[in-house]
Order: sequence, then structure tokens, then C-alpha cells
Amino acid sequence: MSVHLAVVGATGAVGDLMRRVLAERHFPVGSIKFLASEKSVGKRVEFAGTTHTVERLCAEAFTGVQIVLSSTPSSVSKEFSPIAAKAGAIVVDNSSAWRMDPDCPLVVPEVNPEELHHARKGIVANPNCVAIPLAVALKPLHDLSPIRRIIVCTYQSSSGKGATGLTDFDAQMKPYALGQAVPAPTAHRAQLAGNVITLDWELEANGYTEEENKVVNETRKIFGDSSMGVSPTCVRVPVRIAHSEAINVEFARPISIAEAKAALAKAPGVVLMDETKGEFPQPIHAAGSDLTFVGRVRLDPSNPNALNLWVVADNLRKGAASNAVQCAEELIRRGIVK
Ligand SMILES: NC(=O)c1ccc[n+]([C@@H]2O[C@H](COP(=O)([O-])OP(=O)(O)OC[C@H]3O[C@@H](n4cnc5c(N)ncnc54)[C@H](OP(=O)(O)O)[C@@H]3O)[C@@H](O)[C@H]2O)c1
Repeated sequence: MSVHLAVVGATGAVGDLMRRVLAERHFPVGSIKFLASEKSVGKRVEFAGTTHTVERLCAEAFTGVQIVLSSTPSSVSKEFSPIAAKAGAIVVDNSSAWRMDPDCPLVVPEVNPEELHHARKGIVANPNCVAIPLAVALKPLHDLSPIRRIIVCTYQSSSGKGATGLTDFDAQMKPYALGQAVPAPTAHRAQLAGNVITLDWELEANGYTEEENKVVNETRKIFGDSSMGVSPTCVRVPVRIAHSEAINVEFARPISIAEAKAALAKAPGVVLMDETKGEFPQPIHAAGSDLTFVGRVRLDPSNPNALNLWVVADNLRKGAASNAVQCAEELIRRGIVK
């Protein structure tokens, strides 16, 4: 079969990559249209050897579309994803607008693909780019013994802020290296080059950032356990693409290193890196890959039931575009989209 697709937010950091991911994965495209804001109308984009023109996002654009891959700001998604669903499409949405809606499944295909059958609003939410690799890496361990608590500190790349984040990165790194004046940030809340930013997201009433609260709430929803302890610190670092996570995870019972590594080695979507061979997950290797890289698996010296690990994944791919395309593939495989 082949599917009629619309890529919404096609000119953004995630939407731009969506085309490459669809082509690489040989997604069965019947027809495809690319939608963005008024300012991008008429822009040319290449897909599978053909040049397409970007169209304005509007209700009429969804006629005949079966799957919408949407990557816009939340406010835009709140308005247009229900319109697309009403027109008969299933929307796989990258924004945070629908993630905590009980009628919208929050899906990581390696973890909870069966949730795709419960898209009661016609919208499937793609989780946050920290929560996705966290869930991919921890699911095989959760299957050995239920997770009780996760402490996660992140090292998030500039591209997590979208196209404007990348503009900041590209404008700042060279002058910084040359000892010249660094241009003021436009997307990030402080200078990125040579710096580490602990407050690069909106601060919320509980003293955590919006990003940190997303990691807590979304991880619990993905694992279907509202009592799971999740304690996050989210940090922006001067890396262009791929987020890293230092994870301490406590289980109901002790898990040995050998047991953990055996489970991780055969887990879908995971690349287990062997520190005894000098291998360790790095953003420069994860960037451009759809896989989640896991390494530095250690026993927690302070807690017999806990492990430490280091996880890296491409935030634009597995953290967004590739996870969405995988969801779309599952929608077809499961006969939800016919
Ligand atoms: N970057 C990441 O690592 C990441 C990871 C997971 C999820 N997400 C989420 O994915 C979404 C997109 O992120 P991004 O990083 O790709 O952002 P981005 O680079 O800023 O791209 C935003 C896209 O939305 C379009 N858009 C904005 N306002 C619009 C409007 N009024 N009508 C129609 N289209 C509009 C933009 O079109 P124009 O170019 O025409 O303005 C652009 O194509 C966000 O909700 C973000 O939170 C991002």
C-alpha cells in the first residue's frame, strides 16, 4: 500500500529532516505535501528526486491526507492537529500540545506501540526528545525488574531549540574559538559557546523548568506508571546535535551488570557500547543515527538496586522525526491506517 502524507512544519529543524528520514526508511509514499507558515509559501524542497513547493498550512490542505507528520510550535498544533484529524487523517504530532491528553497516546514504538490503537482524537503524540531515548534505553531493564526511581541529568544540544537554536550555535562557536566578540543569543537564554545553561527553558511554579516537568510526566505516561519516581535536571550544552543523559535508575531488585548488558545488547533500537574496548556514546556518533546509544553501565556504589548509565541519541531524529516516522510505519503495519 502507499499513503497520502502531509508534512506540517516542513521548513523547521525537525520538519526538514522528516523528508530525509522518510526517504531513507523507504516509507510507502503515495502523495506528499509540505506545509508551513505564510512566510515559507513558495519555498522549494527536494523529496525523493522531485522538487516540491511549500504550501500554506490551512484546513483545506488536509483533504485526502491519511497521515500528518506535524512539527510546529504547540500553539499551531493546538489549532491545526484537530482540524487534520477531523478531515480524516491520523496526526503524529511532535509538539508538546497533546502529550498529556488522556485521549492521545504518547508513543515510543520500541516501548509501547500498542498504545497506537487508542488515538481517540486521531492524534498520536511524539514524546519529548529526552523522554524518548530514556524510555528506549530503560525499557529492556524495566522488563527485568520494575523501575522504582530515575535520576536523570541531561546535556542537551542547541538544535533542541529548533532552527533558531542552530543559528545561535553556528554564529557563536567560531568567534568564541577565535577569542572574538560572540553575537548575543536569539534562541538560547544565555551565550551557548563555551557555556552550560541550566535555565534554557521556562521556569515553572514548582521550581523546575518546563523541560524537566515534561521529562517527569512523559516518562511516567510512556511506562504507564504514575508513581514512578523521576528526578530531572535539564541542561543545555554547546553541542550542535544529539542529547546526552546521565541516568541513575533504581529497580525493585538488584540487576547485575551482566544481566543489564545482555538485555541491552538485544533491545530494539539500542546500540550497547563496550567501555572495555574504549567505546562510549558520544553526540558526534549519535548525530545522524536513528538509534539510541547506551554505555558506561555501572553498579551504583551507594544503592544495591540501582545502576548508572550514559545514553545519547539524535534529538532531531530519534527524539523527533524518526520516532514519528516509526509511529507512522506502525500505524500502517497494525492496519490502523489502511
Ligand atoms: N528540535 C528538537 O529537537 C525537537 C525535538 C522534539 C520535539 N520538537 C518539537 O517539534 C516542534 C518543531 O520543532 P523544531 O525544532 O523543528 O522548530 P523550528 O525549527 O522552529 O520549526 C518550526 C516549524 O513550524 C512552522 N510554523 C511556525 N509557525 C507556524 C504557523 N503559524 N503556521 C504554520 N507553520 C508554522 C515553521 O514554519 P516557517 O518556517 O514557515 O515559520 C517551521 O516549519 C516543536 O513543537 C518542538 O517543541 C523539537
